[in-house]
Amino acid sequence: MSDLQNFLDIATAAALAGGEILQSYLGKVENAIAQKDRPGDLVTIADKAAEAVILDHFQRHLPEHAILAEESGALGNQTSKYLWAIDPLDGTTNFAHQYPVFAVSIGLLIDGVPQVGVIYNPCQNELFQAATGLGAKRNQQSIQVSRTSQLDQSLLITGFAYDRRETTDNNYGEFCHLTHITQGVRRSGSAALDLAYVACGRIDGYWERGLSPWDMAAGIVIAREAGGRVTAYDGSDFQMTSGRILATNGYIHDSLSQELIKVTPLTVRINTGS
Ligand code: IPD
Ligand code: CA
Ligand code: CA
Repeated sequence: MSDLQNFLDIATAAALAGGEILQSYLGKVENAIAQKDRPGDLVTIADKAAEAVILDHFQRHLPEHAILAEESGALGNQTSKYLWAIDPLDGTTNFAHQYPVFAVSIGLLIDGVPQVGVIYNPCQNELFQAATGLGAKRNQQSIQVSRTSQLDQSLLITGFAYDRRETTDNNYGEFCHLTHITQGVRRSGSAALDLAYVACGRIDGYWERGLSPWDMAAGIVIAREAGGRVTAYDGSDFQMTSGRILATNGYIHDSLSQELIKVTPLTVRINTGS
C-alpha cells in the first residue's frame, strides 16, 4: 500500500470517529457553548470532544507527524514534513443551532502542499476523500467537478469570516456583485463542505477570505483531485497563509477571478441603538 493511501485510511478512520462524537452531541450542547475572541465565533463541548478523539487516533498511528488542530494548536514533531491540519467541527455555528450542515475536516500537508483530504458530514452520512494521484471520492464513488462554463449559468458558494464586523474586507461587495450576475450564491457555514461540493459538481465555484489551514487543507485536495482548480483570487498560485481561496470547476475560473478582483468593498453601517 502506498504511503498516501495509508495516510488516507488513517485520516478516514479519525474523521468517522470524530463524526460519531459530533452526532452524539447534536442538540445537547446548549449549556456548553462558549464564544471565542470574536462575536459569533463559537466553540462547543462537541468541538473539543471530537478533537480529542481525532488527536488520540493520530497520536497512536502517526506519532512522528506534526499536527495543527483548531482547538489545541500545534502539537507533535514540528520539524516533520508531514503536517495534519484538523478541524474537528467545521460549521460550529450551524451545529450550535442544530442546522445539520457541518463536518469533520482533516487534511495532510507534505512540505506545505495539501496531499490528503477527508471531509465527513455525519448528518448526511457523506464521506469525501482524496489523495494526490488517487482521485476523489464521495462515499467510495469517484466524483468530478461540474462542466458549467458560463458565469451567468453558475451556482456559487461563499462564506463570511468572523472578523466581518471589523473590516471593510468583509466579502459583502463580492457577495452582492456575484449574486447579481450568476444563478445564485449560497452560504453554507462550512468551508470544508463548500470545497467538497465544488468537487462533486453541486457547486461551480467557491471563494472566501479569512480562512485557516484546517478549514481548507482537506477540501483543496478533494477539489483538485476531482478536476477543480484552486488559486488565489487573482488566479495566481494559492497561498495557504493568505487565508484566501478561489476554487472552481476550472471552466469558470478565469471569469470568476476577473469579477472578484474588480469588486469595491461594501461598507455596512449598523445602527445598534447605542
Ligand atoms: C467556519 C466555517 C465557515 C467560514 C468561517 C470558518 P468553524 O469554521 O468554515 O463556513 O465562513 O470562516 O471559520 O468556525 O465553523 O470551524
Ligand atoms: Ca472551520
Ligand atoms: Ca471548527
